[in-house]
Amino acid sequence: MKAIIAMSENRCIGRDGKLPFHSSGDLKWFKEFTMGKTLVMGRKTYDTLPVLKGRDIIVITHDKARMFGDCIRPVKCENLFVRNGKELIEDILDIEYPISECKEWPNLTVAGGKSIYELFMPYITEFYVTILDINVDGDCYMEPFEHLFGKNEVIREFEGGKVIKYYDRIIGSHTIIGTLPSNCKICDAVIYNEPEDGFNHCSDCGHEFEV
Ligand SMILES: NC(=O)c1ccc[n+]([C@@H]2O[C@H](COP(=O)([O-])OP(=O)(O)OC[C@H]3O[C@@H](n4cnc5c(N)ncnc54)[C@H](OP(=O)(O)O)[C@@H]3O)[C@@H](O)[C@H]2O)c1
Repeated sequence: MKAIIAMSENRCIGRDGKLPFHSSGDLKWFKEFTMGKTLVMGRKTYDTLPVLKGRDIIVITHDKARMFGDCIRPVKCENLFVRNGKELIEDILDIEYPISECKEWPNLTVAGGKSIYELFMPYITEFYVTILDINVDGDCYMEPFEHLFGKNEVIREFEGGKVIKYYDRIIGSHTIIGTLPSNCKICDAVIYNEPEDGFNHCSDCGHEFEV
């Protein structure tokens, strides 16, 4: 599964629900790379999105009814689908191992925000990362993911930034390609920790439970 992201040198990806920077070079790259693809994104990112012609979007939300309630959300793309995170992961895992293309949605590409990169990180095999030559303040930062990939190469350079493709996914810790992650029995957050002595703990709510 592919993913695309833009971040500043200090790993900032968002501020006040929006992008914390403007880069015409990156917007051009984003349009070119995503055209014709199906983008997977969180409800918050979708809400702040401009119209993306020529792309399908799968919005991840806990509340599918609200997404379509009173038609308050205009469709900003070719086709709009709504799923919760677990449903989409199950759809994808149904397809093949390792995950590359999904038959129902070819060219599935994870497009953020932070919670959705985290949710799908175990399944990302190609990560297209724009690094902008700036440091900015924000409220949304990307945790390191670079160590999960064996290879990377700069595939594009533009004024103020570059795009690095990370690939050759390293199978190991935090890699759940081919299996469903477990969920916390209290808060339902996705858990990537390996259980120890039959117990696991949730990094979201801190609850420890037997597995
Ligand atoms: N720099 C970049 O490349 C880039 C790209 C995209 C976004 N961003 C930035 O990222 C920030 C937003 O990130 P975010 O993490 O706050 O929001 P988000 O990931 O865009 O959306 C979060 C929402 O997704 C839904 N969701 C998440 N996990 C789910 C699950 N397991 N099952 C069902 N629904 C789930 C929930 O929607 P409901 O509340 O409806 O249930 C949740 O509130 C913004 O600042 C945005 O600009 C940056």
